[in-house]
Amino acid sequence: MSSDEMYMLYHGLMLPTAAHSLESLKFAQEFTFKDDDVLAVVYPKSGTAWMQEVLPLLLNGGDLTLIQTIPNWDRVPWLEETRLELVVDKMASPRAIVSHFPYHLMPPSFHTSKAKVIYVMRNPKDVLVSSFYFHQMAGFLSDPGTFDEFMNKFLEGRVMLGKWTDHLKSWKHSELGDRIMFITYEEMVQDLPAALRRMSDFLGRDLSEETIQKISHHCSFKTMKSNSMSNFSMVPKAYLDKDKSAFLRKGVAGDWKNHFSSEQLARFQSVIHKELENESFTLPWSLD
Ligand code: A3P
Repeated sequence: MSSDEMYMLYHGLMLPTAAHSLESLKFAQEFTFKDDDVLAVVYPKSGTAWMQEVLPLLLNGGDLTLIQTIPNWDRVPWLEETRLELVVDKMASPRAIVSHFPYHLMPPSFHTSKAKVIYVMRNPKDVLVSSFYFHQMAGFLSDPGTFDEFMNKFLEGRVMLGKWTDHLKSWKHSELGDRIMFITYEEMVQDLPAALRRMSDFLGRDLSEETIQKISHHCSFKTMKSNSMSNFSMVPKAYLDKDKSAFLRKGVAGDWKNHFSSEQLARFQSVIHKELENESFTLPWSLD
């Protein structure tokens, strides 16, 4: 596949053609959200697959059936991707859905529904590193070039789903009130049971400590890595080449320290700070 064929442009955003089509985008725009739907919104490489594990378990009180029998892309499909149309009729309520979309691309029914949103944000320095390796392994994404070249693409938004800062700003400005909660990937890495409790409270689930511990165990990096329904091992090598990198690669906070030079760090900070300088919100991490 040539680089031109790898992406389509949708409202100015690059979307991989491997998973998106004009039909899937139309289906997303016409999708009818239900009040009890739960949507996890995640900029790519910030914990999407993790939420595809977490949400069914929180919503089903720790029942493992879904995560052990249905691949993540069908159990918690992407709003904008081609699989949704194929599986939506089989999804039992309450449904969990993920999306990489910015707020302004949500369909009309999202705005009139009471569907709740969990926005997962990850330190953009680690998003960049994770994305760099993902572009190496993913046959359906363009070659990232050197780390330095990829950093420029990321900062300029010449990557799938555009600029990290635009994505964050769109959801921070959404004014969804108590329909949205923000959580960080780092919070989940540091204390998953506590993060699960926070999400379960937000979703109105009253889960016992035993259930939280059970969910935490099944959503750990190690357990997910050995779950064939969650580790992408079923995806053909032409799409995801595990010899180049693993999808569940490191699963830590702070790997950027092994990749950024001091000049790159200064460049990265300066661009992100400039793009957020007039914002009323602050980032939960220092970019130093
Ligand atoms: P790394 O490449 O830094 O390891 P996404 O699903 O949005 O594409 O994000 C992928 C990133 O989330 C990868 O980061 C992956 O390892 C990490 N991830 C997925 N499940 C995880 C888990 N249970 N614990 C920690 N990190 C996880």
